[in-house]
Amino acid sequence: MQGCDASVLISSSKKKKAEREAEINLSLAGDGYDVFFRAKRALELQCPGVVSCSDVMAITTRDLVTLVGGPRWEVPKGRRDGLVSEASRVEGNLPQVNQTIQQLISLFNSKGLSARDMVALSGSHTIGFSHCKEFMPRIYGYNKTFDIDPTMDQGFAKSLRGPCPKKNPNPTVVALNDLTTPFAFDNAYYDNLQKGLGLLATDQMLALDPSTKTYVKIMAKDQQMFFHYFMAAMIKLGQVEVKTGIEGEIRHDCDSFNS
Ligand code: HEM
Repeated sequence: MQGCDASVLISSSKKKKAEREAEINLSLAGDGYDVFFRAKRALELQCPGVVSCSDVMAITTRDLVTLVGGPRWEVPKGRRDGLVSEASRVEGNLPQVNQTIQQLISLFNSKGLSARDMVALSGSHTIGFSHCKEFMPRIYGYNKTFDIDPTMDQGFAKSLRGPCPKKNPNPTVVALNDLTTPFAFDNAYYDNLQKGLGLLATDQMLALDPSTKTYVKIMAKDQQMFFHYFMAAMIKLGQVEVKTGIEGEIRHDCDSFNS
């Protein structure tokens, strides 16, 4: 929560609950963490104490995007790892599905990211999943007038009711973030938003809010523009409050501080 410094990889100690255990982070996949730990261990064998966990995260994330069909960019390196990881610092620093576009823009602005960066980065939802609880309020008892969020394609909403029943939904069930091309990093996500096929309320609002809808339109129309804006925004995101020089440390193990 102090920028791009791999603080989310730290395990909790008896004394301190780490960021990883903040409520909002509990859904992060365990095998995702393993990828970073294993890449770092392999690096430490060849070249100990040189590449930080935060650089490993930035490079691995770039590689994942490229592997699933997205662009490849040069990741600026030289980050150092943070010395603080506290669950209590997470709230208010991560975006949530019940926030308005203006609240989200303020949050991104506070990290030096623009509304355009936010729209481009949300394009990450071209892959991956969301748990039922993240979109259930949209498909049951939305408000006094509408049972289903009227901005949502009604057939799409109803199709989500099977895997996510109103009573006792299974907390491990997930839905695809990008309905049409869920395993490809492409711009179909934006096109889907324009058709009411956004899964999360915040995804859908990007295509409707006057501050963001033009960007959605541009990125839906031109995949190269999406890739261009996405790469620029990822480089910015990877530099948020970055630690260099004598700040922080180069961790030996990504899940614990050196001392
Ligand atoms: C704009 C505000 C955003 C909101 C409200 C938001 C919210 C969410 C939520 C609720 C999920 C599902 C979590 C779960 O149920 O496990 C999710 C998934 C995901 N988000 Fe976002 N997100 C936002 C922006 C971003 C950004 C900026 C990125 C990356 C740069 C991103 C990358 C992802 C990815 C890759 C997944 C899939 C994770 C998986 O499959 O395990 N999101 N997001």
